[in-house]
Amino acid sequence: MSIPIHKYDVVIVGAGLAGCAAAREAAHAGLSACVLTKLHPLRSHSGAAQGGINAALSADDSIELHEFDTVKGSDYLGDQDAIRLMCEKAPETIRWAEQMGAVFSRTEDGKIAQRPFGGQSSPRACYAKDRTGLTLLQTIYEQAHRDGVDFKDEYYVADIIYKDGKVNGVVAYDLVDSKPMIFNARAVMFATGGYGRAFKINSNAHANTGDALSIVARHGLPLEDMEFVQFHPTGIAGSGVLISEAARGEGGKLFNSLGERFMEKYAPNKLELASRDVVSRAITQEILEGRGCGENKDHVHIDLTHLGADLIKTKLPELRDLAITFLGQDMIKEPISIAATAHYSMGGIPVNIDGRVRKNKDELVEGFYAAGECACVSVHGANRLGANSVLEALFFGRHVGDNIVRDVKKGIPFKDATDQDALTTTREIEKLKTSNGDERVPALRNELQQGMTDNAGVFRTEKSLLVQRENLKDLKKRFENIRIDDKSKVYNTDLQEAIELGHMIDFSAFIVEGAILRKESRGAHYREEYQKRDDENFLKHTMSYMNANGEFTTEYMDVVLGNHELADRTY
Ligand code: FUM
Repeated sequence: MSIPIHKYDVVIVGAGLAGCAAAREAAHAGLSACVLTKLHPLRSHSGAAQGGINAALSADDSIELHEFDTVKGSDYLGDQDAIRLMCEKAPETIRWAEQMGAVFSRTEDGKIAQRPFGGQSSPRACYAKDRTGLTLLQTIYEQAHRDGVDFKDEYYVADIIYKDGKVNGVVAYDLVDSKPMIFNARAVMFATGGYGRAFKINSNAHANTGDALSIVARHGLPLEDMEFVQFHPTGIAGSGVLISEAARGEGGKLFNSLGERFMEKYAPNKLELASRDVVSRAITQEILEGRGCGENKDHVHIDLTHLGADLIKTKLPELRDLAITFLGQDMIKEPISIAATAHYSMGGIPVNIDGRVRKNKDELVEGFYAAGECACVSVHGANRLGANSVLEALFFGRHVGDNIVRDVKKGIPFKDATDQDALTTTREIEKLKTSNGDERVPALRNELQQGMTDNAGVFRTEKSLLVQRENLKDLKKRFENIRIDDKSKVYNTDLQEAIELGHMIDFSAFIVEGAILRKESRGAHYREEYQKRDDENFLKHTMSYMNANGEFTTEYMDVVLGNHELADRTY
């Protein structure tokens, strides 16, 4: 069978903010650019970002403060050169988004409105009500279209073409009819978002299955700092759907079943506006110690009633709707039920400050780039501050797009792909399609998610992590014995979910391995046996590699330090 081969200067996988911004820059500069996405672009998870995008705009704020808050928020694991760059460029990024057509909420005197977010010295999150991500995504997508980006919606990218140290394109198949295709390019960029679906309770879209991470890892390339998973403090109880930090930014207060405003105990200065890792641990601790609310004592309350109907209706309308829909609770009239939810991956595909993918700590892969949540640059270190992810996606998406333009113009070679490059993918898909074993994908996925939440969640121990390591090995074996009932070619979601599950099993093993080896507590990674940060032994980035037998090796990479000296982290 001959496989169609499409040729471009640059192929970008993922149509969220990072992907659309990079594609817009590439096409605007005259490159032929294609964006592949397994969704419609406007269903990308960037669109779910509610609360805001950080930039030091006001007279009381400064780039230095933004930088300091981000370094401190990262528990000193963030690379300070990349943090500096992002904070410095944040105001310009907001201006660029406005020029593209994004409409931000304004103050009475016409300035861009900004709200407080956790761990920040000043109200810094610019917002469009509580629909910031969607507003930005619609704008940048539209502009990318206008510049001639070729969007291929509902294409599933199954592999990269990686030969002789260079990435030459990707292998994908069309979800409509399962037809495989090659997208051959000088440069490939991954902007595929996060992997929250590996956890049972999460705030992520169904599509956030982290496929890109294991695609990269299966080629023997490293993943960085995967043990750092952010648990957002305020997920809707039971489902994990996000109640934005904007709720606390606007003044929401947290209470346990005894009516105690418990953050007074955990973060006496910042209270609900401590950084996310601190607040999530506090909520989880209250629940574990029996002070949770409701029949099952499995959540706490956030109270917004004192804000009044007007503020809630004008600034938090989406959140109110979500709480009514999922909980039957109207935040204007009563406190709503929340608990921590897996939200964001600080780690990912290691890249340098230009967004070029690392082959190891010293070398880069030619023609391969990444940005946004799937990448680890690392601006978030061990814990991300709210509203820095939309900034990262938009700023680094654009920055990496510009770097691709520069590199392509300098002369990244075009290496022709052939049918042979798709062989591994087509064989694997065929094998899965004809699989006739005893195990079912939804059951295995449920075990994976439950195990990750129970054993690699907010609190971790050596014991729980070792249990999860064994669970994952077992799941990997049982995955070989799955059965797919749908044998058809048209929109075969059974097949897609099986491929995604295979990816989730593989990258989850990186989370667990990194967490076992990191015998300290830092940011979102909390080990009960090692409750303190240990700079002497662990002020370093984890770089893990998986071989074809699923065995791991790990090396460490230095953190880029800078102006901000290590200090205790209290809020
Ligand atoms: O809480 C939120 O609105 C989420 C923002 C973020 O993750 O940056």
